[in-house]
Amino acid sequence: MAPAGKPPARGLKQPSKSKKEGGRPASKHQDKTKHPSISSPKTGESVAKSALGSLQSLLNTFRNAFEERLASDVKPLLQQVKQHLYNRDFLEAFGRDDYLEAYAVRWSPSRALGYAQIFEDLQDRLLQRAPGTKDAVDSFRVVCLGGGAGAEIVGLAGFSHHLIEESNNGPISRMDVTAIDIANWSSVVTSLQAAITSPPPLSKYASAAAKEANKELLTPEAFHTRFLQQDVLSMDPEKLSVELRDATLVTIMFTLNELYTASMAKTQRFLLMLTETLAPGAQLLVVDSPGSYSTVTLNGAEKKYPMHWILDHTLLSTTQAPKWEKTLEDESRWFRLPEGLKYPIELENMRYQIHLYKRLPQAAAVP
Ligand SMILES: C[S@@+](CC[C@H](N)C(=O)[O-])C[C@H]1O[C@@H](n2cnc3c(N)ncnc32)[C@H](O)[C@@H]1O
Repeated sequence: MAPAGKPPARGLKQPSKSKKEGGRPASKHQDKTKHPSISSPKTGESVAKSALGSLQSLLNTFRNAFEERLASDVKPLLQQVKQHLYNRDFLEAFGRDDYLEAYAVRWSPSRALGYAQIFEDLQDRLLQRAPGTKDAVDSFRVVCLGGGAGAEIVGLAGFSHHLIEESNNGPISRMDVTAIDIANWSSVVTSLQAAITSPPPLSKYASAAAKEANKELLTPEAFHTRFLQQDVLSMDPEKLSVELRDATLVTIMFTLNELYTASMAKTQRFLLMLTETLAPGAQLLVVDSPGSYSTVTLNGAEKKYPMHWILDHTLLSTTQAPKWEKTLEDESRWFRLPEGLKYPIELENMRYQIHLYKRLPQAAAVP
């Protein structure tokens, strides 16, 4: 749980506080930032309303992928998963296929809708094109760290579909998504990939017209997913580098705080490795619960800092040429579900903090 804010200890520079939650609850998407280069993306709420059909098709992806699980009584399984998560016993919580499916059908759909909205809101930044232009991008390679539960995968499928709808063909000819996760989500990822790239099941009484219109969300040529079971904090650097070096985008969604909690030192080392491996222009998107704090030990004393201060400190504070530019930050945003979505179990709005960084080219060596 996030403790009350504390002043920074010596040695960890406190980033200027972004203007947030100033007395009123953060409502809908807001792009408050200290960075002058950042322009406001359109607000999420209005987009979400007009995109009801697209959001519903993402929920249908989960329904089609996990039809049997959703038809069964999933509550007892969810209770058990919740209990293990509450005890921070992740090995148990993510240690059985039925638990993983139960988690994926309960918690990933709401997140997937929120992520699709985030990607859509950030589309010009992510595709690195001027607003309003339709430049094509050959391939878009995304690595989702802690992304096995499927929310990022389905969110990215929604983003890809949105781009295709928006411009007839879509600026990305192919999106490749690699989800790397410590738990074995491979069957969840396989089911989602199949549901994304196959036409939804139809009743045998469906009309010829309905059969004709029944199309997959994306073709297998346009959208491809891989899963890799790995602990990113102890992954072989060579293997990690192979996965990361061509990435256009790396995401760490609701996972960074878990990594910091597992090991501050290993997470710092991992982020530095990520920095060294990613190509100039690659972007890192971090989304997490607002107000997440992590513990740092400095000069033998333990202090708690907001997660994003520690992240900024690792990526941005340097005495050498900067390696990252931060292009977006917001300590609190909401994704609110529009009315009218249909899903057999509860969905929820998502409140989150968001940080986007872009890897800079190495400065030319000074002669
Ligand atoms: C809270 S869940 C978030 C899932 C998903 N990213 C989302 O936003 O809905 C955290 C995920 O991180 C994974 N994870 C935790 N520690 C990890 C590590 N050291 N290496 C890889 N994955 C890890 C967990 O297995 C889990 O899938």
